[in-house]
Parts: sequence; structure tokens; C-alpha cells
Amino acid sequence: MFEEYTNGNLPNLKEMKAKNYDNIDASQEPDVHGIAVLTSGGDAPGMNATIRAIIRAGINSGYKMMGVTRGYHGLWKGEIKELGSRDVSETLQRGGTFLMTARSKSFETPEGVLQGAKMCQVFGVDCMVVVGGDGSFRGARDLARIGIPVIGIPGTIDNDVACTEYTIGFDTAMNTAMEAIDKLRDTASSHERCSVIEVMGRHAGYIALNVGIATGAEIILLPEQPWDINEVVRTILACRNKGKRHYIVIVAEGAGSATEIAKQIEEATEIESRPTILGHLQRGGSPTLRDRTMASLMGVHAIECIKNKKMNRLVVYKNGEITDVDIEEGLSLQKTISMEDLERSKLLT
Ligand code: F6P
Repeated sequence: MFEEYTNGNLPNLKEMKAKNYDNIDASQEPDVHGIAVLTSGGDAPGMNATIRAIIRAGINSGYKMMGVTRGYHGLWKGEIKELGSRDVSETLQRGGTFLMTARSKSFETPEGVLQGAKMCQVFGVDCMVVVGGDGSFRGARDLARIGIPVIGIPGTIDNDVACTEYTIGFDTAMNTAMEAIDKLRDTASSHERCSVIEVMGRHAGYIALNVGIATGAEIILLPEQPWDINEVVRTILACRNKGKRHYIVIVAEGAGSATEIAKQIEEATEIESRPTILGHLQRGGSPTLRDRTMASLMGVHAIECIKNKKMNRLVVYKNGEITDVDIEEGLSLQKTISMEDLERSKLLT
């Protein structure tokens, strides 16, 4: 049935109806009665607070509210249930996402998107709110293109969504990493060692850059900026010549391997070097005040968009305000990290 769409061209609902694939009337803007929320991609502290805000603001605005478990994977399988205000009690301060999340490959195909749209129809989901990063928003955009209205809320520890200056979870992840690095500094200092710490960020160095500055790292390595091990070694030796006896190197996951870098530093300098990979602990924990308030206000903003019939929007934080942008436009932007801040960090060592 979906074979003709496997070339990647998604039909719209009008076209589907014309072909008798569905009984969807896509000729007019749908009236929204039922709204569902799903979390997708890597989890982030504050996702629960976001779900809570969407559910409560939705119920208080008169909508029937639903939750989809396991992201797009769950949508595809029809894992959708109604949620009431009490179902989101005690979630504001909890890390992770109680709706659970997944990185769904099945949803990247036209068949997957169509199946998701059908499930929305079956369960009376007139608008889908997606909490996640760029990949999750591409899934939402595909749903929007075939006539299911969507709203996206940025939730990822990486802060790498171009159209927004802030993503839910970033502050908590940075603070978690900072606390861990402070502890590693204590032991590096006691043993006069070099501590090479790998933080999350496969494609984006926002966590690395910010925690590097906040922990006084001697060296910060980002995926966005080519680097050279000889330069790293030269910087450490220069610090030693100035009397320094312990060193912190922060490397973003996508910029290199802490294990490999520590080995190379030790070989070149004879300074004992230890790698630490902070890994998924950066994704857990109770959200900070900033993440709780951002999550709560962005969740309410999503419902305000729906009330005002502003569909297919991404909720964003820009110039100190929570606002929204068109999903196609938002996804077309490229985010660039501040190389000036990286240069400034070098004046602090
Ligand atoms: O969610 C973002 C992120 O934590 C990245 O920083 C990291 O590269 C990736 O997810 C890890 O993904 P996974 O949990 O699937 O290994």
C-alpha cells in the first residue's frame, strides 16, 4: 500500500484521500480536541517537567490530553493513552522521561510516517507535541507535511538546535559535568596528573565549551574545530613551565577519545594522565531551576500556540523570550558555536 512512497516522497492527506487510502478530510484546518505528547531521541533532564506543563496547560484549556510512550516507535504501534492532571504529579523534579523515549528508525520511512498519521486518526490526536532535538523535529515535520498538525519543544542536553538559544536539559547536564570535573580536579591536583575528561556532544561542543570555561580547563577540544595533538602537548608543557602541576583537558565526544588523548599526552610529556568518560550520567538527574522553568514555560507556550491555531511551530528561546518559529524554517537553519569564546578561554589558563 505504501510502496509508491518508498522513494522518500511523502503524500499529503488530500492525496491520500483521493487515492482512497484514508478517510481523512485534509481540506480544512482541523479543530483541535485531542492533543498528544511524545518525547523522542536522547532523554534530557526537564522532559518530565515539559510533559507535566503540556498536560496541565492542555487540560486547563479544555483539551483531551494524551501521552505516547517510547517516542515515534510507540506512536507507530499505537501506544497512546489519556493522561490526567494527577498522572503528572511528582514529575516536575524527576530526571528522564516517564513516557520513555527511543531513537526510531522505523519512523524515518514514508511508511512509518503514514502509520503514525493513521494512529493519530485512530486515537483522536488532532495535534502532536514532540519534545526532542532536530532528528525528532524532522519526524514531526514529516507528520505535518501529511496533515497532522505538530508543535515541537526543544529538549536535548546538547543545545544544538539552530533556531533556539536554549534546549531543555542543557543547564542540568552542564552542572552535572561541572560537579564531576571539580572532583576530578581534586584528585588530579593531589597526584600532579593530567585529567582528560570526555563530555557528551557527538556533533556539538556546547557542553564541552561551557564546562571547560566553568572548570578552568587548560584545553578544550570541540568537534567543530580541528585540533592537533602536538599543540595540546605544547600547551601542557607551557603550563608546566609556568609552574602548573595538574592539568584539565575537556574533549567533546565527537572531537576525540579521552583514552587515546590521555595516552598520547603521557607518552609525549611523561606527565601521568588519566582519562574519564562522563557518559550518560550527564543525561540523568533532577533538573535545575533553569530547566524546570524553561520546561514549564515552553510547555505552556506550546498549548498557547494550539489555542491560537498557530500550528507546525517550534517553541524557541530567543533574545530572552520564549516564542515560536515555523517548523520548516527552524529546521533549515544551521547553528554555529562561538569560536570567540573558545579563544577567550585560552586567556584564562
Ligand atoms: O542526546 C544527545 C546525546 O546525549 C549526545 O550528546 C550523545 O552523542 C548521544 O546523545 C548519545 O546517544 P545514545 O544515548 O543513543 O548513545
